[in-house]
Amino acid sequence: MFRLSTSSIGKQLQTNQRFITKRLFTNTQGYDALVLGAYTGTENGSIRLTAQKDISQKTRQLIEDQLQLSNFKKAGDVRTLYNVGGIKQVAVVSLGPQDNVKDNEQEAARRATALGLHTLKPQGAKNIGIDVSISAQGAGEGSVLSQFSFDKLKSKKKEEDVLVGPFSESTQTEGSWESGQIYGASQNVARMLMTSPANLMTPKLFAEEVAYLLAGLENVEVIVRDEEWAARQNMNAFLSVSKGSAEPLRFLEIHYKGGKEGDKPHGLVGKGVTFDAGGISLKPSNGMALMKGDMGGAATVAGALYGICKLQLPINVIAVTPLCENMPSGTATKPGDVIKAMNGKSIEVLDTDAEGRLILADALYYISSKYSPQSLIDLATLTGAMDVALGDVFAGVFTNSDTLWHNLDKAGKKTTDPFWRMPLNDGYLKEMQESAVADLNNLGKGRSGGACSAASFLKEFVSDDIAWAHIDIAGVMDSQSTDGYHIKGMSGRPTRSLIEYIHGLSK
Ligand code: BES
Ligand code: ZN
Ligand code: ZN
Repeated sequence: MFRLSTSSIGKQLQTNQRFITKRLFTNTQGYDALVLGAYTGTENGSIRLTAQKDISQKTRQLIEDQLQLSNFKKAGDVRTLYNVGGIKQVAVVSLGPQDNVKDNEQEAARRATALGLHTLKPQGAKNIGIDVSISAQGAGEGSVLSQFSFDKLKSKKKEEDVLVGPFSESTQTEGSWESGQIYGASQNVARMLMTSPANLMTPKLFAEEVAYLLAGLENVEVIVRDEEWAARQNMNAFLSVSKGSAEPLRFLEIHYKGGKEGDKPHGLVGKGVTFDAGGISLKPSNGMALMKGDMGGAATVAGALYGICKLQLPINVIAVTPLCENMPSGTATKPGDVIKAMNGKSIEVLDTDAEGRLILADALYYISSKYSPQSLIDLATLTGAMDVALGDVFAGVFTNSDTLWHNLDKAGKKTTDPFWRMPLNDGYLKEMQESAVADLNNLGKGRSGGACSAASFLKEFVSDDIAWAHIDIAGVMDSQSTDGYHIKGMSGRPTRSLIEYIHGLSK
């Protein structure tokens, strides 16, 4: 049997998200290739490199003249020039008109860096300098995100890793190349956890992997609980989902104490179904393999905690992730079974495939009753209906707090991993209050407004006085194709937005 040892995944992380020590060359020496940005699309058709310092006037002119000859216009156009100014390869990426870039320089740098690297790597460049002049943070993110690959389980590696470093000076004061690399690496952590096949990322292995990842970082403690502990807590909703599986469940708790002692923590909860077969309400086999990503909530929360620790943000955060499989078997929960959740409410399980809300019910109640967090956010690949509603552009946010919405919206815009506000309304709860035998059923009417009814189900397990948001990330779970820093496959979204949100609170 194939089995990834914790240490081998650790090694892979180090190679994929290598932090490069080489920094701030004020000239191009040491790099065999460069990625440069250029403004295009001006009325007179002129082209202007964004890096003003560190390239001589003569070299700049030479590059701009060359580009003029190649119909270099549209944002996203890339041209490679060879042997200019002593540099073997120079990939220039068009950013479009400067006026358009002004609104979101970070995103322009993120995307241009990725496009430039995708162009240079197949041409054999090994040591690449990145123009960080418009946003060092964005360039740092783009460089790390675009290099993600998961070839651990292939006999032949696809590509060699390259060394990437910053070139030129940034005009932006916010963020840095290094913090950008941490944001990117955190999302890659989530991608790695989600991409790992379910036989190699069981609840037990997930908890071990995250403990390994955070080991040695400051101000953080990882606690891993087992089934007996969950039973003692009366987490029967969580236990009922795991019952059909041969893999033991885990409940992971991460305490990060970067803030003042006694300051109430901010809470994060992530759905961690390491494989969702649907249980007795078995899913169709077509596309079922994607359900290895049903721990995307737990993965993005773990990735965010990694980033928050690395950045040593001055704030207290507690994250919990219930981890289990949802499998059909002779010991599995059956449709119609009734269970009593940790908060005492009885639930009739009409559909065992609506398992996410069951494990979150206990996790949300546990974190709110035990730690009374200042704010609470849960993330979950919860409903196919969310994907139908918003697709893969926005993740849906259901919240009882305008302030929390405002903060998330701001964070999502900054990272270009954005959120859309959805309704949290008791109107959607009614259909789940009509069980003949229990307080609630877990299904409602099924398809219509499915993401909204799931959210109002969760609300029953969070006290009204907590500012809480539920983020349904089913739609953004994976990317259909590689485009810039988006890589085909499990996305690890919205890890960077979570870090940015916590960063915003800690200021
Ligand atoms: N994990 C799925 C939701 C999902 C679907 C995530 C597609 C990512 C991509 C969830 O547990 C589920 O099966 N939800 C059901 C709920 C229904 C039975 C009320 C669904 O969406 O069909
Ligand atoms: Zn399900
Ligand atoms: Zn699920």
